[in-house]
Amino acid sequence: MAMIPPHIVDDIMQASRIEEVIGEFVNLKRAGSNLKGLSPFTDEKTPSFVVSPAKQIFKCFSTGKGGTVVTFLMEKEHFSYPEALRWLADKYGVQIPEDKPPTPEELEAISERESLHIINEFAQKHFVETMHDTDEGKTIGLSYFVERGFRPEIIEKFQLGFCSNKSDAFTKAALDKGYKQEYLEKVGLTKTKDERSFDFFRGRVMFPIHSVSGRVLGFGGRTLKNDKKVAKYFNSPESLIYNKSQILYGLYFAKGDIIKYDNCYLCEGYTDVISMYQAGIQNVVSSSGTSLTREQIRLVKRYTNNITILYDGDAAGIKASFRGIDLILEEGLNVKVVLFPDGEDPDSFAKTHSTTEIEDYIKSHQQDFISFKADILLESEGDDPIRRAQLIKDIAHSVSLIPDQITRNVFIPEVAKRFEISEDVIWSEVAKDRQDNLEKTQQESLRKKRNEARQQQQQTEASADDPYAHEPSPFESEAPIKEVVVEDKKDHYEYDLMRILVKYGTLALTIEQLNEHGESEKVETSVAEFVCHELNVDELTFDTPVFNRMHKVIADSLIENVFLKPTVFLRMEDQDIVKFVTQIELEDIQLSPNWEVKHKILTPSEKDKINIAAPTSTFTFKLSKVMKRINEIRKELPAPGQEDEQTMDLLAEQANLERVKIFISNRLDRVNTH
Ligand code: CTP
Ligand code: MN
Repeated sequence: MAMIPPHIVDDIMQASRIEEVIGEFVNLKRAGSNLKGLSPFTDEKTPSFVVSPAKQIFKCFSTGKGGTVVTFLMEKEHFSYPEALRWLADKYGVQIPEDKPPTPEELEAISERESLHIINEFAQKHFVETMHDTDEGKTIGLSYFVERGFRPEIIEKFQLGFCSNKSDAFTKAALDKGYKQEYLEKVGLTKTKDERSFDFFRGRVMFPIHSVSGRVLGFGGRTLKNDKKVAKYFNSPESLIYNKSQILYGLYFAKGDIIKYDNCYLCEGYTDVISMYQAGIQNVVSSSGTSLTREQIRLVKRYTNNITILYDGDAAGIKASFRGIDLILEEGLNVKVVLFPDGEDPDSFAKTHSTTEIEDYIKSHQQDFISFKADILLESEGDDPIRRAQLIKDIAHSVSLIPDQITRNVFIPEVAKRFEISEDVIWSEVAKDRQDNLEKTQQESLRKKRNEARQQQQQTEASADDPYAHEPSPFESEAPIKEVVVEDKKDHYEYDLMRILVKYGTLALTIEQLNEHGESEKVETSVAEFVCHELNVDELTFDTPVFNRMHKVIADSLIENVFLKPTVFLRMEDQDIVKFVTQIELEDIQLSPNWEVKHKILTPSEKDKINIAAPTSTFTFKLSKVMKRINEIRKELPAPGQEDEQTMDLLAEQANLERVKIFISNRLDRVNTH
């Protein structure tokens, strides 16, 4: 996804009202100058969730989450940073420039990834238009969907379309628009053979495949012929933007309801998803065209820990599904299975039953994986004792994959009961399997580490000439926000200095300095310049990673003569920064009696005393770094009699540091006795 220009980010943040956005998720009541409600991140009885309309930030005191309206959307809706901004832009009517279709010249300049996105979006619109606005489209494409029972609003919602049977109608239209042949081939929409180009999907009805944020990543195209020799579905090939194993069809439409119902239905194909959705069961996705992958399961895990697999009754597919079940268990999710009556799949069942009938059927037919596997296997393998033993082992193996011990322990008696066998046998079988699994994962992770190291090296080499090499993939960018525990950070000095830098960096500061004649004189500067200068002369940096990143940002902008206000930090993509700034911005909001400001070394009127506060915090910080180094040296020094050539260096450094320590202590004293 393309970068949103900084001034547009500003416009979006200016236009957004955090209280309105959060108000859509949480019932907020006024509490002084703030708003309070029940946390949407946890199940609580007393409200601990606070929104400050004045500061445009929120804080959840039970989970520690906090930040801006963007942070909220990232946490609650699992949006990436650009997705959250786009959502807000849409809500508040802020135009994002690249949302206008780019001219061919502009196209030339943007990244390949973005070009592929744009071509797919063009194709999707083209196929929809072909279906609705041409005779061929209406009589062949649209009538097929209508015959299948898809209603107009569903056809529109899923952006279903039709690719003309006229050899290269789409490719021509795309080339006319200025899209590159090379890219058309890369997304697999155009094929070239003997110097003749044609549309890969010609004559097929089209199912666009969306990313979590709704961009078109690829297509499935179903043939309308009844010829067994023709593949029923064509799918887009893998490309820079389309990675089959990391995509679930329908997730874009389903994610809201998956969160709401804390469950995800998984079925086989495009039409199953659409029919279920149309029937009112909307937390439904499919792994279209591939067997379920680990990445797909992790995708679901962002929204829920519960998967219910919906299968048609035929036995062939069911056995293949066992691998999927084991993968789900291994990822720590709960899995249930529903079998449909013989000859029915979710698609056909949904068409002939009402929403409540489907829900009732699912409720009364869902099985946990043990009874599902047991039923299926017992049916096919019968009473043969050897087969039966194999079957018990098979199920014990599934149990052994569950990472959570308590869950495992719940299932073991179930298996024992089901097969009328002693629990001890199952216990030891599971224990043995776990040992095996452990050894396997250790080998696996070793191999992975080696691969990663290799890949990283290749990436660094590639990024040297590709400015977009670090552009996040649609999946990387959607990773959930990491938890930073700034609150429990031991280094109070780092915390306090960064707090001063952010809160008061732009304030003027008068400090006393010795000039070249050794006389004390007053110098006018700013807090940010003073702090950065002091750190710079001693080549000091912050150890806490988030502070280190902030320090770099601040120092870089000073070079350009730009002073950063706290609000600037709140707009950054780096949510660790947003979280920290939110926390210090909220220090004067005292709502929860058990939430204390732990790090406040200085008084509330520190703004008036900035001439003391800033140097105090800076020198204390420096002193802490010096002491830390002195302590390190103490540990490094060899025992008497074991000195080597390095010892002299260490002793010299130690002596020097002791002098620096006294020097800084004196400066600190002077500041505080004035
Ligand atoms: N599939 C595929 N390629 C094929 C056949 C199937 O990618 N040649 C995938 C599609 O995602 C399809 C799913 O597997 O949706 C299930 O296959 P099937 O039941 O044959 O397809 P349906 O979508 O149910 O198609 P229909 O009901 O129109 O026959
Ligand atoms: Mn079908």
